[in-house]
Amino acid sequence: MNILVTGAAGYIGSVVCAKLVEAGHHVIGIDNLGSGLDPILPPEVDFRHGSIENIGKLISDKDNVDGVIHLAGLIQVGESMKQPEKYWQTNTSWHIGIADRNAKIGCHKIVFSSTAACYGTPERTPIEESDIPHPDSVYGWTKLAVDQMLASYADAYGWAALSLRYFNVAGAYGRYGERHQPETHIIPLALEAIAHHTAFTLFGNDYATPDGTNVRDYLHVADLADAHILALDHLKTGQHDIVNLSTGLGSSNYDIFKAIETVTGQKLDIDIQARRAGDPAILVASNAKAKQLLGWQPKYTLEDMVRDAWKFKA
Ligand SMILES: NC(=O)c1ccc[n+]([C@@H]2O[C@H](COP(=O)([O-])OP(=O)(O)OC[C@H]3O[C@@H](n4cnc5c(N)ncnc54)[C@H](O)[C@@H]3O)[C@@H](O)[C@H]2O)c1
Repeated sequence: MNILVTGAAGYIGSVVCAKLVEAGHHVIGIDNLGSGLDPILPPEVDFRHGSIENIGKLISDKDNVDGVIHLAGLIQVGESMKQPEKYWQTNTSWHIGIADRNAKIGCHKIVFSSTAACYGTPERTPIEESDIPHPDSVYGWTKLAVDQMLASYADAYGWAALSLRYFNVAGAYGRYGERHQPETHIIPLALEAIAHHTAFTLFGNDYATPDGTNVRDYLHVADLADAHILALDHLKTGQHDIVNLSTGLGSSNYDIFKAIETVTGQKLDIDIQARRAGDPAILVASNAKAKQLLGWQPKYTLEDMVRDAWKFKA
């Protein structure tokens, strides 16, 4: 199939492109390279530099796009609270005009990067897709808005769409890995502290969890990418659905530090500070729907994620 990947040069985008190429698909990748970094992508990817806001100039119906995997967007939760207009503009504006633009692309099949942030502070664990979303951040609201838009386009125009709500994505896939600027994710930050012999700042060790630190649901980026490829085969005309991508397993910050010390053979220096506002104690989600609907099964462990991220850094 001819697959259009937006945000192709990003962390998840590069792995999705690599997996699509391996599966024999033809991939058109677009990205505005907002990070300023050179893209690292398989040579087979037809890469087009530009913004999703000008997608009509980058893609035409001659490209015969069979499916869209839409990952482009801004991802910093804290920044979204300080500069909300930037997030509404980038994360939703393409979609407001998407009916017209996708008519030009000639493709009404879309797999969308939604997020755990749609759920906000959960009322129960594990989180299920039927739980009422109430985002705590502008970032989460922009993603939830696109979920709603896609549902309305499926109803009104017969689009086929899936919103995949990722939990904490980690690890690397060979030469494709995390290069966020700034980095806010715990595994690359803690590996950076190991590499530079600096202290890792831990925000809060007094949560109501078994070891007092936050518990999150970490998912290997290669497992995540595989779910996107399966999702392309499960798009159904006139339907939009929401699917959690998670392992259903919780790992605490101390579990991560243990895995890091095992993988690197080095001791992590931890600087414990007060809790940050807005960090729920536990975020773990059911993946029963992804397994049932997509026939997907995550394969990798937390230690695999840390090992692959460490190799990527080396
Ligand atoms: N990393 C995670 O743990 C996680 C969790 C949940 C959801 N997500 C979602 O997954 C998607 C990818 O995340 P990521 O971690 O790979 O982030 P990333 O920042 O590495 O990748 C996003 C890419 O989108 C590009 N982009 C931004 N605005 C653009 C625009 N206007 N036009 C074209 N390209 C643009 C950026 O240049 C970047 O390469 C995002 O939509 C994010 O919200 C990520």
